[in-house]
Amino acid sequence: MEVDIWLEGAVRQAAQLCGCEDFSPEIRPSDPRFGDFQANGALQYAKKYGRNPRTLAEQIIAHLFERQDIKQNVEISLAGPGFINFKFRKEFLCKWLSEHSNADSLRPRIDSFLGKTIVVDYSSPNSAKRMHVGHLRSMNIGESICRLLEFCGAKVIRDNHIGDWGTQFGILIMAIKHENIDLDALPTGSALAEIERLYKLGNAMAKESETHLTSARNELVKLQSGDRENVRIWEKINAISYAEFEKIYAEFDVKFDYVLGESFYRNEVEAVCKSLEQCGIARLDREALVVFFDGGRFKDQPFIIRKSDGASNYATTDLATVEHRMEHFRADEVIYVTDGRQQDHFQQLFMTVNRWFSARKLALPKLHHVWFGTILGEDGKAIKTRDGSPIYLQNLVAEAKNRAHRIVSEKNPGLSEGDKSSIAATVGLSAIRYFDLAQNRTSDYVFSWENMLSFDGNTAVYLLYAIARIHSILDRVGAANFVADALETKEECALVRKLMYFPMVLRQAVLDLRPHHLCTYLFELTGEYSSFYNANRVLVSDGAVKNRRLALCRCTLLVLELGLSLLGIATLRKM
Ligand code: ARG
Repeated sequence: MEVDIWLEGAVRQAAQLCGCEDFSPEIRPSDPRFGDFQANGALQYAKKYGRNPRTLAEQIIAHLFERQDIKQNVEISLAGPGFINFKFRKEFLCKWLSEHSNADSLRPRIDSFLGKTIVVDYSSPNSAKRMHVGHLRSMNIGESICRLLEFCGAKVIRDNHIGDWGTQFGILIMAIKHENIDLDALPTGSALAEIERLYKLGNAMAKESETHLTSARNELVKLQSGDRENVRIWEKINAISYAEFEKIYAEFDVKFDYVLGESFYRNEVEAVCKSLEQCGIARLDREALVVFFDGGRFKDQPFIIRKSDGASNYATTDLATVEHRMEHFRADEVIYVTDGRQQDHFQQLFMTVNRWFSARKLALPKLHHVWFGTILGEDGKAIKTRDGSPIYLQNLVAEAKNRAHRIVSEKNPGLSEGDKSSIAATVGLSAIRYFDLAQNRTSDYVFSWENMLSFDGNTAVYLLYAIARIHSILDRVGAANFVADALETKEECALVRKLMYFPMVLRQAVLDLRPHHLCTYLFELTGEYSSFYNANRVLVSDGAVKNRRLALCRCTLLVLELGLSLLGIATLRKM
């Protein structure tokens, strides 16, 4: 069992024996000078019920000592006004180390995920445009959330909700026809860029002349009513777009179970509008169909589900999408990973869904909006290239690899060219991705190649390098099962204490839906490992000492590699 859960159970039981019924133990990692964990619950409880917190904590401790498992393994002390500190004995740490030698043993048990189906809606770019730096975070955060959820026992469905249906296609088709472009003849590498160019051209044309504007509108109506030629062009545009997205997904090792774009729901939207009207949730307001929210933040901002011209929109498709995910995926929860600017949309969507499902007496899905901040340039504004155009992900990846190549060649000039390139590819991609995930997702952050590719600090380079070093130690001794009979030095103990926190950190990251908790932890763990490694030689002649230190290296490696793989970050054996 996870150590913090075990302590929590013990404290709750002891508190019950003191007559405290609704006692919450509040177990937290503590300042290492005082112990490994701290229970703060006595303070809150005493305050609520007018008791003396220190006396209560003393009574709880007395009951804790009645339990053999606690008495044998943990030192308990009382601090301040009623904090209970727990410090595991060396024997316990040693036992923990021997019992945690594979990924399964480190899996947190999260009952609320068992048997649950969670749909994660992430990446979800719009078609007809290349992916740029603004698309990085949804893909990274979404993928790591999927991996964390899966590891913790949930069934995950990855759904890429591509924006493939909208007014932009009228303009695009008009321009394509006007320029007489054969989409099939476009060279694969630049086809999507050409489509972007055509869109810009079409937009300018429609602005300039009424005739072009009308013709764009007609093309859109024709597409929407199933005109064969327009549907063919639209499909081709989507195919070109998706082929381009796939290249990025392949780089980042992201695979979707479903790619159900907005267009997939185009025949459902009418029924959605009708149902919302029938349930009395939406009503006509100046020709538009809207959902009103009395009071609160949205009292003057209704949710528009059909515009006055009769067109459905982003809101309508999203409502239809929830319905589909409930009906066909049997989703218990849906997680949407988008930019923070869509917070209003999702709040209104969730409120509308709640009303709509309640009105029909259907089980309410649990919906989460996992939003993130903006990636900024050095000037503090959303990052762009010098000429003001977006930074395309393809170029970003290429530059990361180039920069990593320079660094790898400098550090390790003796490597073969092939090794240099493949190492640089992993380092470059991992660096971008880790830097992104290491930030609290709800903050903006400044993009900096220098910080991202630094050998020290909370970077992928630092972690990957530590991993490669551990591999080289283990490679020197060959495969064996190293057993620790006892722990001696304070660095050995400190390292196990840190390793022991891993399942708890995973639980926190997955329940908060914030992967950066895991990054912070892996960074700190690496620091703890370095202190251990610098103070304690591993490959000494004393077999018992060597074995236990190798066991520590192996467990650290396991946690680092597992942790990074749950973030979606590739690692290396040598660097
Ligand atoms: N295509 C949208 C965009 O680029 C994101 C879609 C997010 N998912 C959703 N179900 N609304 O902003």
